[in-house]
Amino acid sequence: VLNVLIAVVGAYLIGSISFAVVVSKAMRLDDPRTYGSKNPGATNVLRSGSKTAAILTLLGDALKGWFAVWLVIQFSDRYQLGEEVIALGAIAVFLGHVFPVFFKFKGGKGVATAAGVLFALSWILGLATVATWVIIAFFFRYSSLAALAAAIFAPFYEFFMYGPGPISVAVVVIAMLLIWRHASNIARLMAGKESRLGQKKS
Ligand code: G3P
Repeated sequence: VLNVLIAVVGAYLIGSISFAVVVSKAMRLDDPRTYGSKNPGATNVLRSGSKTAAILTLLGDALKGWFAVWLVIQFSDRYQLGEEVIALGAIAVFLGHVFPVFFKFKGGKGVATAAGVLFALSWILGLATVATWVIIAFFFRYSSLAALAAAIFAPFYEFFMYGPGPISVAVVVIAMLLIWRHASNIARLMAGKESRLGQKKS
């Protein structure tokens, strides 16, 4: 039980590091929680005009998702904890990003972090999901719409590749939370008011 707790809390703490805030501060840019969609995420950091900051945010948030799940997998192998713990670790790092303990529990929408998580679970699953994001983003130029489409497809990819199991549950839970976090984007998309990818806004 203690080992499970260590794995889950560890993953949650890693997830709580908001790279949008950290990178923006380090690069002396405005806090992303003050402009655009006010979301601490790579898409919104891109609205600051700094592509470098947006890419660093994307990489940081994705790598922390990947790293946390990778760590939990090593830990789980070492202490023979089973797939359930890997599933819990995947949800925990995602929840850390969305409700970060270091930032008054006000986090992001979890797109980059979820991508990192999927890559750690299975690189082919990560690749298929990111490819879905890229295709939709390329044709429609909405980051949020691409994320929503990827979130809808990811559980199906996982299920058809590996069959039902604890990891499937984790992927469904993460996808549902991600869609829920995009409620304001869904409303803007339906009203035709969503900003296009890379469109600057203050
Ligand atoms: O990464 C989150 C993205 O899907 C939407 O971000 O800033 O447009 O709400 P934003």
